[in-house]
Amino acid sequence: MSQEVIRGIALPPPAQAGDPLASVDTPSLVLDLAAFEANLRTMQAWADRHEVALRPHAKAHKCPEIARRQLALGARGICCQKVSEAVPFVAAGITDIHISNEVVGPAKLRLLGQLARAAKLSVCVDNAANLVQISQAMAAAGAEIDVLVEVDVGQGRCGVSDDATVLALAQQARALPGVNFVGLQAYHGSVQHFRTREERAAVCRQAARIAASYQLLLRESGIACDIITGGGTGSVEFDAASGVYTELQAGSYAFMDGDYGANEWDGPLAFQNSLFVLSTVMSTPAPDRVILDAGLKSTTAECGPPAIHGAQGLQYAAINDEHGVVRVAAGAPVPALGDTLLLVPSHVDPTFNLHDGLVVYRDGIVRDIWEISARGFSR
Ligand SMILES: Cc1ncc(COP(=O)(O)O)c(C=O)c1O
Repeated sequence: MSQEVIRGIALPPPAQAGDPLASVDTPSLVLDLAAFEANLRTMQAWADRHEVALRPHAKAHKCPEIARRQLALGARGICCQKVSEAVPFVAAGITDIHISNEVVGPAKLRLLGQLARAAKLSVCVDNAANLVQISQAMAAAGAEIDVLVEVDVGQGRCGVSDDATVLALAQQARALPGVNFVGLQAYHGSVQHFRTREERAAVCRQAARIAASYQLLLRESGIACDIITGGGTGSVEFDAASGVYTELQAGSYAFMDGDYGANEWDGPLAFQNSLFVLSTVMSTPAPDRVILDAGLKSTTAECGPPAIHGAQGLQYAAINDEHGVVRVAAGAPVPALGDTLLLVPSHVDPTFNLHDGLVVYRDGIVRDIWEISARGFSR
């Protein structure tokens, strides 16, 4: 075959609107629109009921079309975890973005300044020198940014953990040009996956108490502290009802995953699996074993291998780069070569980061492919 013919080969998209789901080329990341929309409505209703703002975390999906739908339902804005992650969202016209993280280093601060000229941005700080650098970056860009002091409410990640530093950072932010102190970020990550509701409730109560005590300290020092932002899918039930948090940052709720599925969900909030990796049986080497075409390059496994959705007697037992080994229990129907199976990723965020596009479907029919524009944007 001539080089010209080979050069003319372009990889077609995995599907077209109107295709049945089972004919989508695999492995593909796919979204059940009905379940996704129900999840968005449930979370927005929970926030509205408690009169707190919803600012869904876009690090979960990295997809501007998803953010647009969350905003259309009433979300105040979005969160991004990295400055570069915000770029495609700003380019897509999303103008209210909280960088729920510290931003350190000249290149990132330059980009932060550029973005702050184009959108209403806020950022976390937990260090006085970094705050000065942010102020200088804003001066250089001719921009302004809102600043939230990140406080450690028990996770032991970023954030300050004493009264004097919280107060000093807030005062410094009020004194420096280009930065406006607006409140606190009080996110507790590890509580999200504490399995029982009781454990989560107790840790969230403690986190809210800590955040409230810093807020009181600031107010008694004459400093307005109007925003307390935080919360994830596993804690929003309690954060929203705490009377302390004013803003919820949950992200995974729109999709759910195996790790969240392992939590006890016996409270008022329930979310459905909407996100799957569609995979094809590519080999049937033994009566108790079939091989799928989706491995670590399609779904991550730091929280365990994916589950097989809606199938009895099938267990995704071993995950390789490009293969998944599925054990078939005795007596269970053995999938045939070419059959497709839906896998539930064990961890949504890094799984999105493996895919360029999201095939969205309703009633078993492909409706569109949405670009995962911030995929790989982790600087
Ligand atoms: C700062 C911050 N906020 C919010 C979230 C959203 O959490 P989830 O996707 O578990 O709802 C995360 C997730 O790690 C986070 O790091």
